[in-house]
Amino acid sequence: MEAAAKRERDSSPLNIPNSSSGSSAVEFHSGASPSVRTGSWKMLSSQLYEGMSILHPRMDKERDSGLTVIHCDSQYDKGTYSTYMEKEIFEQPNSTERTLKGRVDFDNYKVVLRGIQPYMDEINRCRRMIMIGAGTSFHIAVATRQLIEELTELPVMVELASDFLDREVPVFRDDVCLFISQSGETAATLEALRYCKGREALVMGITNTVNSTLSKETYCGVHANGGVEIGVASTKSFTSQILTLVMFALMMAEDFMKKQGRIKQIIDGLKLLPDQMRTVLELKDTIKEYGREIHEKKSLLIMGRGYQYATCMEGAFKVKEVAYMHSEGILSGELKHGPLALIDEDMPVVMIISSDCTYDKCMNALQQVTARHGRPIILCTEDHDFSAYASKIIKVPKTVDCLQGCVNIIPLQLLAMYLAQHRGHDVDRPRNLVKAVTDDS
Ligand code: AGP
Repeated sequence: MEAAAKRERDSSPLNIPNSSSGSSAVEFHSGASPSVRTGSWKMLSSQLYEGMSILHPRMDKERDSGLTVIHCDSQYDKGTYSTYMEKEIFEQPNSTERTLKGRVDFDNYKVVLRGIQPYMDEINRCRRMIMIGAGTSFHIAVATRQLIEELTELPVMVELASDFLDREVPVFRDDVCLFISQSGETAATLEALRYCKGREALVMGITNTVNSTLSKETYCGVHANGGVEIGVASTKSFTSQILTLVMFALMMAEDFMKKQGRIKQIIDGLKLLPDQMRTVLELKDTIKEYGREIHEKKSLLIMGRGYQYATCMEGAFKVKEVAYMHSEGILSGELKHGPLALIDEDMPVVMIISSDCTYDKCMNALQQVTARHGRPIILCTEDHDFSAYASKIIKVPKTVDCLQGCVNIIPLQLLAMYLAQHRGHDVDRPRNLVKAVTDDS
């Protein structure tokens, strides 16, 4: 009751702190309770934003952020890249560093997200978490649910915003509802946010856009700090928002003694991630060639399981969006329940084989596919040799299971981009799509 009342008091979008003093980020460290908020995640969730330019390239006037806005068009140049999609795929090592910077203390194994710190007690007391988003943002929820379940030991639901609203899902005041949106302006996601707020749940945001409606209407949250994303197809915001949620899960688990080993393992993994992404990007010529070989096909199936199911869904989404080619992300545990009927020597298939607890089951799926004369492209980590099973292999560096998707998605983003280019499409302006879907009709 008390918590709900506090939220009501704080919920007005007019309750905006005066950040011109430049002290908001510091005040977040105080651990002040939400009822005496002196700062807001909506304006500053990271010291990185202090004094920085925050202006969306498509906006022609300053937003009332209280921050210094410097017009800096060169930030949005394509540079040496031919498209924004290519630039943003190749930016991922740097956007990853930006997402983690000032938040992960690699020496002391601590994570601090100032935008949610004042709400941690209340978040820790919740009975259930509901993660809600659309498109790629939904895939981000699927990609991180398992880790949040593991580290919080809470039940976690993942929901497509439109379906969540259609079903009028029961929501309670002891739920934490976590909204994920790159733009922070997606109509269905915002409508779901207002629905949950009306039911007095604690509403949290994860967004890549400072000053977005999502960041204004949620009580607390975290900016992904991935940098402005211009390509309609989300790429760097996918990895940055996954990592933001990984940090959230780590912060939720900090007081669990039994989770300390796992926390250290993941933080060590985070440290190596940008360089591992750089290594993957070096595979671009191989992937371009694989794209050329299959670009005239009608369909592409992408299979995996566990943490990699979300990678498969997101990879297939990219292929559909920019290459206009049918593609499906398939949970390989479902193979024998239907999709196996699609397999023959002509069907292009990418199979992700994970070096984690799903490895044996992935191998089983691989045998099922090759027994039907399937000739998969295998996406695997460097510690395995699959040359007996396939001629086309994409070997990537191995990281911790919950971070592997951030490495594995890069070859699939590249494959989608090269497929589109081989098919003659403009990847930055895919037909029929816009960057932010602001009407939900
Ligand atoms: C993905 O490449 C698309 N940009 C799209 O699916 C997007 O993720 C979806 O429309 C939701 O957008 P949001 O993250 O800005 O809310």
